[in-house]
Amino acid sequence: MKSESNAIEPVTPVTPEVSGEGPRLMQFSKLGDSSIGFITVAEGESIPFEIRRVYWTYYTPQDVQRGRHAHHHLRQILIAAAGTILIRTEMADGRSGQYPLDTPWTGLYMPPHCWHTMDFSHNAVLLCLASMEYSENDYIRDYQEFRRMGGRA
Ligand code: TYD
Repeated sequence: MKSESNAIEPVTPVTPEVSGEGPRLMQFSKLGDSSIGFITVAEGESIPFEIRRVYWTYYTPQDVQRGRHAHHHLRQILIAAAGTILIRTEMADGRSGQYPLDTPWTGLYMPPHCWHTMDFSHNAVLLCLASMEYSENDYIRDYQEFRRMGGRA
């Protein structure tokens, strides 16, 4: 409940690491059949945040690795709408994972403070549902800074 007093209440920052949140795969609906094709829908309770931005990347050369950053606040769901995308993740506390996305009905939920790299097959289209509008200030692009955030200088 909101305090009636005008005093500024101290705020204890709670980082995602403290809550133990990590990346996780999500399975969406897959409607249709092979005679007409398929449709996948991401809506309502299946999305753990309000979608504020949608972006997609494509024509990424196979010898280019994208990502190589984390975010302070952004939460995202990454979907390989076409092709195969290998996503490697690392949380600030050192927990790591590898997620080969190769089905368009599968998403990878990525919490804040998740360092990630992405490698693409030649035909891959990465679709991202994001919790915030684009802000360069939300990026952590320095890997050493990222490690320091987890006390791993
Ligand atoms: P970036 O997120 O660094 O790409 P990736 O993680 O796929 O390697 O973004 C690449 C460039 O695109 C960077 O200059 C910022 C710009 N950009 C926007 O302007 N808006 C956006 O929503 C996104 C995702 C990127």
